Amino acid sequence: MTGPYRSEFPAHIADSPFQRLARLIEGQAPGAQPIDLAVGGPRHAIPEFVESTIAAHVGGFGLYPTIRGTEGFRAAVAAWLSRRYGLEDLIDPTDAILPLNGSREGLFLASQGAVSYLKKPVETPVVLVPNPGYPAYSVGGYMIGAEVVAYVPADIDGVMPDWDALDPSLLERAVAVFVGSPANPQGTCASREDWADLLARAEAHGFMVFADECYSEIYREQAGPPAGALEAAAARGSLERLVVFNSLSKRSSLPGLRCGFAAGDPAFLTDWARLRNMVGPQVPTPVQALAAEAYRDEAHVAENRRRYDVKFASAEATLGDSFERLVPPAGFCLWLDVSAFGDDAEVTRRMWVDTGVRAVPGSYLGAPMPDGSNPGVGYVRLALVQDEAATEEAMNRLANLFGSW
Ligand SMILES: Cc1ncc(COP(=O)(O)O)c(C=O)c1O
Repeated sequence: MTGPYRSEFPAHIADSPFQRLARLIEGQAPGAQPIDLAVGGPRHAIPEFVESTIAAHVGGFGLYPTIRGTEGFRAAVAAWLSRRYGLEDLIDPTDAILPLNGSREGLFLASQGAVSYLKKPVETPVVLVPNPGYPAYSVGGYMIGAEVVAYVPADIDGVMPDWDALDPSLLERAVAVFVGSPANPQGTCASREDWADLLARAEAHGFMVFADECYSEIYREQAGPPAGALEAAAARGSLERLVVFNSLSKRSSLPGLRCGFAAGDPAFLTDWARLRNMVGPQVPTPVQALAAEAYRDEAHVAENRRRYDVKFASAEATLGDSFERLVPPAGFCLWLDVSAFGDDAEVTRRMWVDTGVRAVPGSYLGAPMPDGSNPGVGYVRLALVQDEAATEEAMNRLANLFGSW
């Protein structure tokens, strides 16, 4: 990698996992009526107040929105964060919240913001990303010519690597460390201690922590809500060097709304907003009004969680005997260890050809590590985004397939 040229991206992100999946099953007929569990787009009903709230604020489409967002949006997000994580007055809605046009654009632009803000005197900045992990983190790093370094969680139930085992010069050169919690695809979560430890390292080495928490509300009722990075910030009484990303795409089943937020370090957000202001990913004010309404309401979120719980229970009932650690504490994906059945891409292809269930090979979601290993190898990801009946049907078909493999 010599520059921010897309043609020089490493092969594993030159194409999205879904483009690679399309090539894998191209021209091959599904074995039954297709059930798409590949794309992680929530399909639950949208909240009932969407239409009336947009209608009440429709005049806002006639105005350019500001990059900093409306007071109403920022106040609703700050109140929600404070309730959810017990933050008291840590979050000042005037400068610690920024609306995002979905969290993806924010995650993509964050590394650029970190380089400009930190002005770290290093020749090649480092951006650390989880592996497997959401591609926007790495692509944002490559686009600024950073050295993108993938890390693998040290523990199968966790999300953090063994930071002490990394080459110390990497943290010294780091401008950004991305952590997904709940992690996609594994559904594992960071503890409050994990966050506190990472924030201490951010202070020692001078990098930004970008916490992607977009699955924070999609947890199993039995496991309870995952800790947030902001709780660790509250414990040390400072938001410095931390930005949390979240959105309504998963929480409220509103991926088409394109509304999320960044919350955290006011100095970073102020600097970043100046850059963003020239780029233009503003959020329309009627969308912000609806988002504020959604953050005030928990009933529709609890209903979403209940429905995912039903679907995970159905997966456990049909596949639980064949797969260990089937149901993750959070997220909406099954991350199935199919290594006993062979190559994950071939297993995915067979799932399609024999059962019509569309999944993503784990190796397409992971990146090669320096030693050539890929932590996604041997897994397939199934996003339980379809309704309960379709999910149960898919689980039954897969139980038959694996039972007779
Ligand atoms: C881990 C993770 N982060 C971020 C996003 C971006 O979501 P959005 O841009 O809809 O907020 C997604 C979407 O699938 C995701 O899985």
